Amino acid sequence: MSTGIMIRIEGLSFSYPDGTKALDDISLAIAEGSSTGIVGANGAGKSTLVNHLNGYYLPQAGRISIGNTLVNKKSLDQIHKLVGLLFQNPDDQLFTARLYDDIAFGPENFGMNKAAITTRVEEVLRELDLWELRDKAPSHLSQGEKRFAALATILVMNPEVIVMDEPTSDLDPSNRRKLINRVNGFNKTTITVSHDLDFIWDTCQRVCIMNKGRIAADGTAKEILGNRELLEANHLELPLRLQG
Ligand SMILES: Nc1ncnc2c1ncn2[C@@H]1O[C@H](COP(=O)(O)OP(=O)(O)OP(=O)(O)O)[C@@H](O)[C@H]1O
Ligand SMILES: [Mg+2]
Repeated sequence: MSTGIMIRIEGLSFSYPDGTKALDDISLAIAEGSSTGIVGANGAGKSTLVNHLNGYYLPQAGRISIGNTLVNKKSLDQIHKLVGLLFQNPDDQLFTARLYDDIAFGPENFGMNKAAITTRVEEVLRELDLWELRDKAPSHLSQGEKRFAALATILVMNPEVIVMDEPTSDLDPSNRRKLINRVNGFNKTTITVSHDLDFIWDTCQRVCIMNKGRIAADGTAKEILGNRELLEANHLELPLRLQG
């Protein structure tokens, strides 16, 4: 992108049908190739925010652009190609009877040719150590396996922007470590929502704190995650490694 900005959010507000105001005038610019963590208490609006980035929710007020593309009903196909979103709940992402088919679904939908799909799906299955599970029903996978399976459905598309909502929940320590290494090797614009502040510390250059639908703080990972008073004021704690 000529501006170096990959994601531009301007004046974004969103309320759910029951009247809950989940996002209150959010503005944020995310640089191409950067890694940003979004942290905050339960109910702060993190998932609502990131679910806007691939058009799962459309702005009620304000606007979002990815590269030069405005997110709206008409641009959804293009946005889905640009942005891979890992939902907080992997069951929202896995819906066929066979893991292989879930991973092939995106490329098939975008009309990639058969041979290329097979090559790409097999590559991702191996990359994420899912090869042995390829014929299993996603609904029969363990929670941690589902998390990697859902990630595979995104990475198979090779998106410009990777958004992950609580990617470490249900991961054992060695898979959590594996994910840190993968994420640090992405070389893409990444946005990660997590309560695992050590994971954010290990994978993000920049961190935003959300509180009650607003951005309460925005700075380098060191500035934000090293600031005990700021974290506590937002119902968070220092990452374990900084607790001494
Ligand atoms: N479908 C919905 N209908 C009504 N209110 C909702 C809905 N989904 C979320 N909310 C409300 O919107 C607010 C923000 O929710 P959101 O899921 O974005 O929070 P979050 O920061 O992701 O929380 P968590 O850390 O628990 O995942 C909360 O007050 C929540 O109760
Ligand atoms: Mg959430």
